[in-house]
Amino acid sequence: MLILGIETSCDETAVALVRDGREIVASLVSSQIELHAPYGGVVPEVACRAHAEWLLPLLEKLCAESGVALKDVDVIAATARPGLIGALLVGLTTGKTLALALDKPFVGVDHIDGHVHAPRMAHPDMEFPHLSLVVSGGHTEIYRSDSFTHKELIASTADDAAGECFDKVAALLGLGYPGGPRIEKAARGGNPAVIDFPRGSAGADGMAISFSGLKTAVLRFMQARNYTVKAGRPRLEREAMKEEITKTIPLPLPLADLAASFQEAAVDMLIRPTLKACERTGISCVGLTGGVAANQRLREKLTSEAKKRGIDIYAAPKDLCTDNAAFIAGAAHHFAREGRFDPLDLDAVPN
Ligand code: KG4
Ligand code: ZN
Repeated sequence: MLILGIETSCDETAVALVRDGREIVASLVSSQIELHAPYGGVVPEVACRAHAEWLLPLLEKLCAESGVALKDVDVIAATARPGLIGALLVGLTTGKTLALALDKPFVGVDHIDGHVHAPRMAHPDMEFPHLSLVVSGGHTEIYRSDSFTHKELIASTADDAAGECFDKVAALLGLGYPGGPRIEKAARGGNPAVIDFPRGSAGADGMAISFSGLKTAVLRFMQARNYTVKAGRPRLEREAMKEEITKTIPLPLPLADLAASFQEAAVDMLIRPTLKACERTGISCVGLTGGVAANQRLREKLTSEAKKRGIDIYAAPKDLCTDNAAFIAGAAHHFAREGRFDPLDLDAVPN
């Protein structure tokens, strides 16, 4: 079964052709990062307009590069929820229109089902039931899946998503947008043990997730030391404070140490609830997915901590961590196999 996938839920315009849920025939992602960077985050109206301008040319390019004609596709799939409403509508309406014009069945896909499916595309040996740690700019959640088309929420962040926290801290550090990859780069060679940022409370069930405290801790750390961001580097301005701080923290505190200390805390705050969820459910197979799952420190530390407890981590390939249409077409395959198609009056749902 050959499926055309369309993804426009946030700031990536993406199209892909996937065979049988796993084989990526072609996948194109047109990132809007440069459009949104001046604003420090995604501007919904800008995203929506860019999707409308880029989607059809991208589809034409997909067909030209793959040599596949749209009439030869078996099923059309598009992200229907959740996401920015205007952005979702562009991809969903395009997908439904193609399905109508070409007389093909249509599947409206939950974006999170796409993220959950991403590790399975690279690891066919993943078994059910499995858990998924979904960490992106909009989501920080742990799910249990008993089959390809099932997912049940086990834990989720009480406030900010992990990626949102990376993005906000990167802004504080003057690193720009998107923050995740820039913090990871800035942290290279840094000492993660220099600042012991709080890891928050594990909560009564041990699976509590909250990122707003960590963001505030970084802000307070910078304010207390009178750090200001100049030309992309934090620096100490008040001479009087230098003496006091030298006692505990070497000066000048390299940006790498600050970034690495933050990254380590964020990573620990994701590992703790994941391992707890394994313990509580008795499940020892975990998919790691979403934009933040591209973070190498998270991939390595979660894998090694899990291994000590007999848990296997299956990380999505890095190009399937951030938003793309291959995982949308891949996830759609299993709904199509079960005959779970959607009517063409299916609406986009932002939440
Ligand atoms: O999955 P995604 O592309 O979009 C959403 O569905 O949200 O995730 C984007 C998020 C952004 O917050 C970005 O800063 C973060 O993933 N991210 C990373 C890394 N690469 C992307 N965070 C930490 N380390 C990375 N290497
Ligand atoms: Zn996403």
